[in-house]
Amino acid sequence: MRDRLELIWKLLSNDGSLWITIDDNEAHYLKVMADEIFGRSNFIATCVWEKDKGGRGDADISLSHDNILVYARNRDTWSNTRNLMPRSETQLGRFKNPDNDPRGPWRQGDDGTAKSGTEKQRFPVQLPSGRIVTPPPGRYWAFSPQTLEKSREEGRAYFGADGDRLPIIKRYLSEVREGVAPRTWWSADEVGTNQQAKRDHLNKLLLDIEPFATPKPEGLIHRILYIATNPGDLVLDSFAGSGTTGAVAHKMGRRWIMVELGDHAVTHIVPRLRKVIDGEDPGGVTKATDWQGGGGFRFYWLAPSLLEKDRWGRWVINKEYNGAMLAEALCKLEGFTYAPSDTFYWQHGHSTERDFIYVTTASLSHVQLQQLSDEVGPEQTLLVLCAAFRSDGEFPNLTVKRIPLHVLNRCEWGKDDHSLRVESLPKAPGKPVQMGLFGGDSREDAKARRPRRDDVAREGLEGTMSHAKTRRRE
Ligand SMILES: C[S@@+](CC[C@H](N)C(=O)[O-])C[C@H]1O[C@@H](n2cnc3c(N)ncnc32)[C@H](O)[C@@H]1O
Repeated sequence: MRDRLELIWKLLSNDGSLWITIDDNEAHYLKVMADEIFGRSNFIATCVWEKDKGGRGDADISLSHDNILVYARNRDTWSNTRNLMPRSETQLGRFKNPDNDPRGPWRQGDDGTAKSGTEKQRFPVQLPSGRIVTPPPGRYWAFSPQTLEKSREEGRAYFGADGDRLPIIKRYLSEVREGVAPRTWWSADEVGTNQQAKRDHLNKLLLDIEPFATPKPEGLIHRILYIATNPGDLVLDSFAGSGTTGAVAHKMGRRWIMVELGDHAVTHIVPRLRKVIDGEDPGGVTKATDWQGGGGFRFYWLAPSLLEKDRWGRWVINKEYNGAMLAEALCKLEGFTYAPSDTFYWQHGHSTERDFIYVTTASLSHVQLQQLSDEVGPEQTLLVLCAAFRSDGEFPNLTVKRIPLHVLNRCEWGKDDHSLRVESLPKAPGKPVQMGLFGGDSREDAKARRPRRDDVAREGLEGTMSHAKTRRRE
């Protein structure tokens, strides 16, 4: 988890936050580790989610909650930018207007006294009825004589309908903060349970699919995204599971990236998100967000790392890469379209009609480079990526670079910016999404499990189809 937390810390924007759902077995170890990486001062709270309303008779103590550790990238920034929760109906019901005050409803039930204070705050007050009162024993006025006087002048002091009750100073609904600070207790009735997510939502949505064991209810993620994000923000779930985070982010108008290791990326997440986009998911937070459908997503298989270290600690090309995979990966990295030619062995891809790329793990001599240069001719240019080369001179139509050195330079490893400059990724209409990893497919089994064209939703269709096309050629 340390590697992942360090990466997430670097990826987060200054006003971003990390929310980790974790059960009791690991929560406390993870807290200590996250404190080290995020800094204890950036720890916001542990929210307690009631994930199970029932009890297990066979347990020593039946586990009914998960912890949600909340960290800010920068606590001060986050405190000023995070959203408040809307007031509940019950909270709003406490504001009434029994005296038809033109300033609107004000909070009932407030008592003008406080539990603590000094003797000075027990001054006598004359009520409109003429009676003179002091706070009850052990209580103190919650206001100073000056505040009471000013409130009387402004008509904000209330003494009951008969003008004979202890004073209170009105707090108008229009003047209090628009929402309330989120609390740490998240009950099942408010945000749902795993069981409800499965039974009431996903089982009905994905009829023929074995349900994911512990899907998060959409209400839970909705609350997190409501507090921590605004429309258009980018949400990352690096352990996507059933895909609830992406589904809710999508319905709430946030952009999202999900990462999932298991096959359910294909069997559960893609069909689920497709239904969300097609407006065919009536469950979860669809009503609450007034979701009607729309948008799209792109789906990528991650290739294994292009480079690995050999036993002497030197960077070498991963043995899992065959020649075609290597050529495709480097085309992607360099912004060339992968399109190996049947006629010219050195044409693996092109950036324009006259600019080509050639990828080889061979070591090229001066003579070989001279031959290449002659074949390319004066009207065309070629980028040559090879394991090594030796040359006494320069060739005006060739640019020769060494892999893996060149790849390492392009990847900017170890710097704070983790955005790989992978230039041939298809561009989504609208805002670009930052990608941190290779998008190329490499494994045979991955190829077999790739979603069909029509498994990919509208917005990403073009880019993903063109990627699929290059694989078919291969
Ligand atoms: C508890 S589930 C997540 C539940 C999910 N948030 C939801 O709402 O359904 C954890 C998921 O992380 C995935 N996972 C575990 N290790 C991973 C890794 N290294 N990279 C990507 N996904 C991983 C597992 O396959 C599993 O689906």
